[in-house]
Amino acid sequence: MSFFQKGAVIETERLTLRRWTMRDMAGFLRFAADPAVMLSAGAVPVLTEEQARGELRRAADDPYVFAIVRKSDGEIVGKIKFQGDYRRYRTHSVSIGYELARAYWGNGYMTEAVRAMVRYAFETLRVDVVAVSHFLGNERSRRVIERAGFYFEGIMPCAFSRADGEVMDDVCYSILRSEYESGKMSPVRRL
Ligand SMILES: CC(C)(COP(=O)(O)OP(=O)(O)OC[C@H]1O[C@@H](n2cnc3c(N)ncnc32)[C@H](O)[C@@H]1OP(=O)(O)O)[C@@H](O)C(=O)NCCC(=O)NCCS
Repeated sequence: MSFFQKGAVIETERLTLRRWTMRDMAGFLRFAADPAVMLSAGAVPVLTEEQARGELRRAADDPYVFAIVRKSDGEIVGKIKFQGDYRRYRTHSVSIGYELARAYWGNGYMTEAVRAMVRYAFETLRVDVVAVSHFLGNERSRRVIERAGFYFEGIMPCAFSRADGEVMDDVCYSILRSEYESGKMSPVRRL
């Protein structure tokens, strides 16, 4: 993915999505040190200061990784990123991944952030497909994805070995450019 505009900031009604800096450690740890949040996202919780600095550095160095900042008080509530869509081969596609600190669940922040990322992916990055997936059983993430207008593709069994050793099935979704442009939101895709 080399088509990203460096330093991009994405605005929504209540949120600013912006690049991470090394000064964001307190906000980063709100979710990155929480095993329940990180394991659900297929990530590894940070356990030591050194790991925390390393992971924050990785986020800060990656122009596709955003801090989700609440406009009302400037608090970092979570993280959202574009990543390679590794289930597709040589297509112009991105996948979205996200984590929200538990204290901020239930306010619609992630749905708002995901919608903005989808818009940015089609309108600015000009991709043809936006993909997302969640582990089978992650109902909160399923609802975010459905509210953001994604189409269900199918379930990939035995898709991901988590940091705790549990092997997870992945529920896969996408939006095609034609679907985004038609503005239709339907649970059933007709190809
Ligand atoms: C997945 C995750 C981001 C979902 O968090 P969430 O708070 O449920 O999602 P949102 O921020 O979109 O909030 C939606 C909820 O807020 C409610 N809500 C309250 N005020 C709202 C508002 N103004 N606008 C929209 N929704 C609002 C909605 O009803 C919804 O609740 P419901 O799903 O029970 O109906 C969070 O659970 C998480 O970080 N989990 C661990 C990591 C993870 O699983 N990552 C995803 C990997 S695929």
